[in-house]
Amino acid sequence: MSDDELKPICEDHEIKGRRLSNRIRTEVETEVAELVSQYGVPPKLATVIVGEDPGSQMYVKMKHKASNKAGILSEHYDLPENTTQQELLKLIKRLNEDTSVHGILVQLPLPKQIDEKTIIGAISPLKDVDGFSPANVYRLFYGEEDLSAATPHGIVTMLDRIGWSDLSGKHAVIINRSTIVGKPLIMLLLNRNATVTVCHSRTKDLPSLTIQADVLVSAIGRRTKEEDPYFVTADMVKEEAVVIDVATPLGDVDFEKVKEKALCVTPVPGGVGPMTIAMLLKNVTAAYRAQMKKQ
Ligand code: GUN
Repeated sequence: MSDDELKPICEDHEIKGRRLSNRIRTEVETEVAELVSQYGVPPKLATVIVGEDPGSQMYVKMKHKASNKAGILSEHYDLPENTTQQELLKLIKRLNEDTSVHGILVQLPLPKQIDEKTIIGAISPLKDVDGFSPANVYRLFYGEEDLSAATPHGIVTMLDRIGWSDLSGKHAVIINRSTIVGKPLIMLLLNRNATVTVCHSRTKDLPSLTIQADVLVSAIGRRTKEEDPYFVTADMVKEEAVVIDVATPLGDVDFEKVKEKALCVTPVPGGVGPMTIAMLLKNVTAAYRAQMKKQ
């Protein structure tokens, strides 16, 4: 066992997202090697980007690199900005039918001529490694978390691994109501018995709610320059709270000041970001396992 494997996930009031992500990625790598020796074929992830969004290009590259390192094959489809919904649906149908592909990820956002909901709904739920499809959202409602959205799943996995897996009596406050983060996170936190409050741009008197939070998750992400003010300052945080900053590339939370008051805080970068990648790999492995069992 390396030194890093023995180090705590929460150290000096900081949640070491990269450390935990590396640990999970090593677990996935071991699991993949075992599955490949059992089934004789490697898992494969197919990704799709429509258009030229530089953020999407960067995130998807990271997803491929991490997949390959864990023994997961990957292929990528770059489609032009003016791709029609019909063309994208045709590609998804082909990937759904391709038995060598076990995970399909269509990077969001999509250009405006394409309806996100229609596309997500067209991906086979068995291959939906983002956990966005209706069937997987429904499964999450019933507490089945194996194909749930990577970012919120990464957040609760951090809580689980610092010993906060049962949130009975704890108040979790989320600042975000998106389909990718806030909404699935409500379910994941409820599954752990938290009392959940969801805040967003129309919420009145945000500090009066955040100050009550034992777990505070912030995913506003509107800071564009280092000198922009933080959205979550130390006076908004309860003593001994766990604070999770989802915003990228610049965090919402005044990390240095909040760290002095909180039990632990995630840094940006090096917090939630690396966990999202690790959870995607877990989802690809779960999807592969389920499909191989069916054959
Ligand atoms: N865009 C931003 N985050 C995500 C994600 O987790 N999955 C996909 N498919 N697109 C995204």
